[in-house]
Amino acid sequence: MAAVEPTEDLSRMDGGANSYARGSRQAWEEKRRSMERQNIHSGLDGLRSAWRGRAFSSVVRLFGLGTRLVGAYQRGKRNALKIRLVDVSLSFPDLPPSFDGYRILHLSDTHLDCLPELAPIAAHLLAGLEVDLMALTGDVHGHHRAPILASTAPYRELLEGIQVSDRRLAVLGNHDPTDMAGALENLGFEVLLNRSIILKRGVERIVVTGLDDVHRFFTPDALGALLEAPEGFRIALVHSAEVADHAAAAGYALYISGHTHGGQICLPGGRPIVTHLRRCRHAGVGTWNEGSMIGYTSRGLGVGDVPLRFNCRGEVSVITLRRSISQ
Ligand SMILES: [Fe+2]
Repeated sequence: MAAVEPTEDLSRMDGGANSYARGSRQAWEEKRRSMERQNIHSGLDGLRSAWRGRAFSSVVRLFGLGTRLVGAYQRGKRNALKIRLVDVSLSFPDLPPSFDGYRILHLSDTHLDCLPELAPIAAHLLAGLEVDLMALTGDVHGHHRAPILASTAPYRELLEGIQVSDRRLAVLGNHDPTDMAGALENLGFEVLLNRSIILKRGVERIVVTGLDDVHRFFTPDALGALLEAPEGFRIALVHSAEVADHAAAAGYALYISGHTHGGQICLPGGRPIVTHLRRCRHAGVGTWNEGSMIGYTSRGLGVGDVPLRFNCRGEVSVITLRRSISQ
């Protein structure tokens, strides 16, 4: 694995053409805590009532009860514990040559407080894995009322055997409270809250922009961060694919997301019934395209309110960037 040069964090640079600052950490915290307190659900399409989420949770709980009645609950739970490692190779004509073969470990929607038994299984699956970058696309947490430690404590076990030569980056999901940013930093992650960083190899570089969740906690700062990122080969880390069209229009090459759990409870053949995407619904699972941008939406490692999966295995993906020769 090639050595990685020291990297730059644009949010710490003062002035100059490459400087980037989309508000201070304190301003972000105050805004997000206020949205949490007021139970505001904000998406790109505006504010929406929280009752939809509550209604969906009720339906899901009823479904869980139904599976118990018909004897399918244990099977669904066993399915949820059968996670897999997925290799994804993506080719780009404009990838800087020194990043050819760059490996990104993509973890999403771990929700370990909802199904703690997943942690040792995932730790076993990932033990000995060597990657260049770790990218965590949110929803570390699950139950809103559970303490953060219920999700982050088992995370330590999960991360123990993984070797990351470059950086560990994370963004927050709609289930992650404001305090999750600090908790992830304590686990060694850099949490990108509407900001970009640069990864260097020699004189070549790629840009990674991370947004705060845009499904429930959308603010214009998210789009601002996409637009203001420096030029070059750019990767967006966003919990949901709901701003994929904006990223493509801004010239991003790759968009990495989660949020949908691949449907979690799917029809035979893996077709999702619900994806919780209000926009960009074509980007619900796996590899997709938006204009000339390539996207990948993880099926997620964990589960939501009901710890069951049907016709949809949980996953951790290793995304390998490849430089393609343009014709
Ligand atoms: Fe999730």
